[in-house]
Amino acid sequence: MNWIIVQLGLVLVLIYSGSALANDGEVLAKQRACLGCHSVEHIGISYPPAFVRVAEKHRDNSEHIKNVIRNGKGKMPAHPTLTDAEILILTNWILGLKETTK
Ligand code: HEC
Repeated sequence: MNWIIVQLGLVLVLIYSGSALANDGEVLAKQRACLGCHSVEHIGISYPPAFVRVAEKHRDNSEHIKNVIRNGKGKMPAHPTLTDAEILILTNWILGLKETTK
């Protein structure tokens, strides 16, 4: 019987840490003004790309996303003051986004 309780506990911890990370990403994106230029999922505006579009396009290429955040691209400025950890949180947050409206 005990192992069920242990497993349940583990699942709860995973769910909790997962949502904490997602929220951190959104908080960071606001703090670091990413959302001043980008929208999360405003489909009508394609430039700068909405983050759901970025997630779709670069689903298998998190390195590209990290690189753009660090070094900039086109009209997007570089972000040299972001730490690797912050870039990772932002990247995971972006890749976890899904379109909710079709
Ligand atoms: C000054 C406006 C501006 C800010 C601030 C900004 N971006 Fe961007 N971002 C852009 C533009 C414009 C592009 C499109 C660049 C291109 O493809 O020429 C872009 C592109 C990107 C891409 C890559 C899209 C692709 O397909 O290659 C990612 C990922 C991204 N931004 C993430 C972020 C994150 C995360 C932040 C906050 C740390 C941020 N951006 C802040 C304007 C901005």
